[in-house]
Amino acid sequence: MADLPAPRLLDRFGRIGRDLRVSVTDRCNLRCSYCMPAEGLEWMAKPEMLTDDELVRVIAMLVGLGVTSVRMTGGEPLLRRSLVDVVGRVAALEPRPRIAMTTNGIGLDRLAAPLAAAGLDRVNVSLDTVVPEHFARLTRRDRFQDVVAGLKAAADAGLVPVKVNAVAMRGVNDTDVVELLQWCLDRGYELRFIEQMPLDPQHAWDRSAMVPQAEILERLGERFRLTPVPGRGSAPAELFHVDGGPQTVGIIASVSAPFCGSCDRVRLTADGQVRNCLFARREVDLRGPLRAGASDDELSDLVVAEMWAKAAGHGIDRPGFRQPDRPMSAIGG
Ligand code: 5AD
Ligand code: SF4
Repeated sequence: MADLPAPRLLDRFGRIGRDLRVSVTDRCNLRCSYCMPAEGLEWMAKPEMLTDDELVRVIAMLVGLGVTSVRMTGGEPLLRRSLVDVVGRVAALEPRPRIAMTTNGIGLDRLAAPLAAAGLDRVNVSLDTVVPEHFARLTRRDRFQDVVAGLKAAADAGLVPVKVNAVAMRGVNDTDVVELLQWCLDRGYELRFIEQMPLDPQHAWDRSAMVPQAEILERLGERFRLTPVPGRGSAPAELFHVDGGPQTVGIIASVSAPFCGSCDRVRLTADGQVRNCLFARREVDLRGPLRAGASDDELSDLVVAEMWAKAAGHGIDRPGFRQPDRPMSAIGG
């Protein structure tokens, strides 16, 4: 194995960028109401998107700057037709980063095995409810069974532990959390709830619609005995043993207890912009310089400078907070 490169993605607060999130496409086949309007968004035009060669070159450059883990996201990453190939090329980098994916699970029944063979290590599948009618209402598509099949294929392909991400929304699926946890426990999937963040560009954020960590714990506590797992470290999810363990449930309290202080993330959009934070008000363009013939060193300098400019935190709970200009599906989850 090659020596680890000296980390260079440092910021003014002593954090180190290690975990790269790549949005490989902004398109999606669901329309989750907290993410997109029913008619979808104006998708990026193909020429605006990085080609596979450009994408792999940028990821390789970032691995050279100290990135040790690469997560494929979107939009829905499985909609990028070349995804298996891209994963294989990322898995061939030295030193090899860990490779994960956040997906809605549709198409995973077919793609889990080839992705695992290409080098994908783990998946997080987004599933907010196991009540099919609630799923259809929330995602505006009747695809619950496709997600169920996708999850099973991921487990069969050894993409373990299979994690499930859920966003609870008041009046939509907040009463389903106990059933969702039981469903995941029965199948050996690790469930994590994520507090809803203000990322929907269509609507002003309604804080009262967000179901905070305390409320999820209270609801789950009516059925399960939850005890905190010690030694959380810098992981964003606070983990709880369910009924004495070993199975766990996690809560990612991005809003009520932000983990910005230990953030190790850096993001690459499908059109080649690097963002130092989901909520950054700025980004740096790599696609332009890349297509104009910039060297890896020149591209690296741009990213290093962008990370140095990373803000201390997202400030969602502070007055004057403004949502990012781009939707989550374009930035990468
Ligand atoms: N707040 C919290 N999580 C969100 N996701 C999408 N939009 C939001 C939001 N506004 C979740 C998806 C997926 C992951 C990428 O982020 O459900 O699990
Ligand atoms: Fe698609 Fe994920 Fe947005 Fe839902 S949250 S519409 S699955 S990108």
